[in-house]
Amino acid sequence: ASYDMGGHDTFMHKEISEQPDAVDRVLRGRIDDRFSTVHLGGLNLDPREARTIRRIKILGCGTSYHAGLIGAGLIESMARIPADAEPASEFRYRNPVVDPDTLYIAVSQSGETYDVLAAVQELKRKGARVLGVVNVVGSAIAREADGGVYVHAGPEVCVVSTKCFTNTVVAFALLALHLGRIRDLSVTDGKRIIEGLRRLPEQISEILKLEDEIKELAAEYAGAQSMMFIGRVRGYPVALEASLKLKEISYIHAEAYPASELKHGPLALIEPALPTVAIVPDDDLLEKNRAALEEIKARSGRILAVAHQEQEKADHTIVVPKNEDELDPILMGIPLQLFAYHTALAMGRDIDKPRNLAKSVTVE
Ligand code: AGP
Repeated sequence: ASYDMGGHDTFMHKEISEQPDAVDRVLRGRIDDRFSTVHLGGLNLDPREARTIRRIKILGCGTSYHAGLIGAGLIESMARIPADAEPASEFRYRNPVVDPDTLYIAVSQSGETYDVLAAVQELKRKGARVLGVVNVVGSAIAREADGGVYVHAGPEVCVVSTKCFTNTVVAFALLALHLGRIRDLSVTDGKRIIEGLRRLPEQISEILKLEDEIKELAAEYAGAQSMMFIGRVRGYPVALEASLKLKEISYIHAEAYPASELKHGPLALIEPALPTVAIVPDDDLLEKNRAALEEIKARSGRILAVAHQEQEKADHTIVVPKNEDELDPILMGIPLQLFAYHTALAMGRDIDKPRNLAKSVTVE
């Protein structure tokens, strides 16, 4: 299919800009205000079954794996079901124990990624229940799964994923809310999350207005040899995804670390030539994150913070709107998509078609 760039210079820019509408679409028709929950028509999981799930294992590759990491956090916090995410490729090759009380979830934009599909087929062969969180309707993974949630991001053309990542995380928030309300999430908390979800499109629009500021910052960082990305708990997958995005399109080497792990090794790397991007949400971990910024500053490291308020220790802070703590990761990744974009642009990269990469990896 050929798609129009709609006045944008690249598909990536177009797709970043489409996010308010895309998020609106993944929410549309699914919210049930009466019971403070969401309806997910294709889930194929009745409440009695949903109550018997003991664990959730999420499988995906690349950006979808990162969305799955945030998804696991959302499910644990809202549904209180132990959940984790693993690269589908790793899972396949380690002869995993397939447990009948575990619900498996395969995440994929294209629905055609071979490693994910092969993991799903192996799981199904062993009698596991597998759901899909997929963007492309009717794709191989969607067909193979027992049910699932469509992400409704619309067609994504740029090799690197932006709007689909955001929508996938929102789809996970819906799934977490749905499972939570079947289990122990209160009506009040359900309402709080629903209100938070409804605020997302508008808040994303607010963030997109920061583009000029982010473009200026990107010009300053464009010459870096390498960059460090840090975040804690909910912020860590945001750091992982932001570093992947930067690597993919700018070819700047980037690493992501949990902020808490800095002192266990990577602090040795910190010096003025290695800038750090820090995810600093205004939540119960704020003081801990600030302490990490201090550690970096004490070693003369340059810091770019993404936060809900100006960070004193940072050289620059991109201030984003606050949502509910659970949903903040969705918003905090967005300025860093623009950051990667403008860094790559300043370096003259071919943004929609980065070297050595394909949109979907359908071979082993
Ligand atoms: C996205 O930025 C990348 N091109 C890549 O990591 C991608 O997320 C991965 O290959 C998985 O693709 P999928 O979501 O289509 O399964």
